[in-house]
Amino acid sequence: MLSNILFLSFLVLSCNATIQDFCVGDLKSPQGPAGFSCKKVADVTADDFAFSGLSKAGNTTNIIKGAVTPAFASQFPGVNGLGISSARLDLAPGGVIPMHTHPGANEVLIVTQGRIQAAFISSANAVYKKTLNKGDIMVFPQGLLHYQINAGGVPAVAFVMFSSSDPGLQILDFALFANDLPTILVAKSTFLDTAQIKKLKGVLGGTN
Ligand SMILES: *[C@@H]1O[C@H](CO)[C@@H](O)[C@H](O)[C@H]1NC(C)=O
Repeated sequence: MLSNILFLSFLVLSCNATIQDFCVGDLKSPQGPAGFSCKKVADVTADDFAFSGLSKAGNTTNIIKGAVTPAFASQFPGVNGLGISSARLDLAPGGVIPMHTHPGANEVLIVTQGRIQAAFISSANAVYKKTLNKGDIMVFPQGLLHYQINAGGVPAVAFVMFSSSDPGLQILDFALFANDLPTILVAKSTFLDTAQIKKLKGVLGGTN
């Protein structure tokens, strides 16, 4: 009996010692595949678990007439290690979040204002396209190309949730036209014509 009680107390103590409730990211540490190192628990406050950065509209005065405001581990260290994060999308009339992928996460999008037309393309190249109204949600499976377009005449807002604290974001046109990969190689590897490639490199800041 006594030994049972001793064993149970040992179990409770050892659990207390090993269970980690959270790992608020220490943004000064390097970010590896498992995220940032943990900030010392003694230094953690309630402020680490809240973030006000999504309360304001992003600036949509840009080429895409859209803005993505992330609340990933880098901006919101409280989600570090928890396998979740979020972001805010703002789309002015005519705006688009261009074709992109999140290599590290599934995504759920919730429309909170306006109307958004969105689609993803499966690895079998099938298109799954929906027009979403306020309150509608849509899921985008990990790694698949997708986009969001403002489908109403008014500003649209959506919040997105990711299944990673660091989902990543790669925009297709930036990958193709915003770097120094030579036009001839972009043409060879995409079948696009060089005039179009040079035009988009000019617009997106690419060279060569
Ligand atoms: C939005 O971005 C544009 C272009 O960079 C800039 O001119 C403008 O001042 C910004 N607006 C706000 C409210 O920051």
